[in-house]
Amino acid sequence: MTGRLDIVGLGPGPRRWFTLETEEILAGASDVIGYHSYIDRLEPLAGQVFHGSDNRVEIDRARFALELAASGKKVAVISGGDPGIFAMAAAVFEAVEQGDRSWRDLDITVHPGVSAMLAAAARLGAPLGHDFCVLSLSDNLKPWSLVEKRLRAAAGGDYVMAIYNPASKARPRQIHDAFELLRELRPANSIVVFARAIGREDEQVTLTNLAEADPSIADMSTLVLIGSSATRRIDERWIYTPRGFS
Ligand SMILES: C[S@@+](CC[C@H](N)C(=O)[O-])C[C@H]1O[C@@H](n2cnc3c(N)ncnc32)[C@H](O)[C@@H]1O
Repeated sequence: MTGRLDIVGLGPGPRRWFTLETEEILAGASDVIGYHSYIDRLEPLAGQVFHGSDNRVEIDRARFALELAASGKKVAVISGGDPGIFAMAAAVFEAVEQGDRSWRDLDITVHPGVSAMLAAAARLGAPLGHDFCVLSLSDNLKPWSLVEKRLRAAAGGDYVMAIYNPASKARPRQIHDAFELLRELRPANSIVVFARAIGREDEQVTLTNLAEADPSIADMSTLVLIGSSATRRIDERWIYTPRGFS
């Protein structure tokens, strides 16, 4: 087989947050596969074929990418942010594990990208400067009881939390339930940030605390950061979690 499959991330916003490696892979791909809204961020090059699809069919998209690579194409599968974080790389490996055994011999490479939490953290200062954990609030692919269990564990461990997928039109309630739970478990003055559309024209950063936070401002373009007991705020501008923790 001469085809290959590269899995790349486009970062959370502007083209300048693409890595050089991502640019190289996209320039050399015969076929680019991804969710419509990510595909729409790119211009096809001469001879290149774009295959956009709906977000809810990740495994089908992964299988299609593997079939194309097996037929000799140079396939780039794209995700927003980093392709390994709540994104397509896991779907590709799930498809490889379940699929045709010959897919295991394909030349598959995952290339790192800038994840939304890294871009949001950089905007704010250094909130991820000490131990943190990353959660998705979506209960599309796991039960809400597991989300709650993990929120409790993160709160109990006094981690900084980076919360992806806080809300969508189909899931408006979960972020309110999560805040209700966190208000029972963490001090009222815990720092909270709603980092929306970071790096895009409609970027908006709201710096508040657990008591005053309005979770209804979170949508599917928002990353929510919850500080640990050590996370500090400098005026209205910066937040950071110190390297030393006593
Ligand atoms: C399906 S996840 C994909 C995450 C992506 N793979 C990454 O590494 O950033 C989508 C979630 O990422 C977060 N997100 C993506 N882009 C963002 C941005 N520009 N600003 C804030 N959050 C963003 C939001 O929480 C959104 O609901």
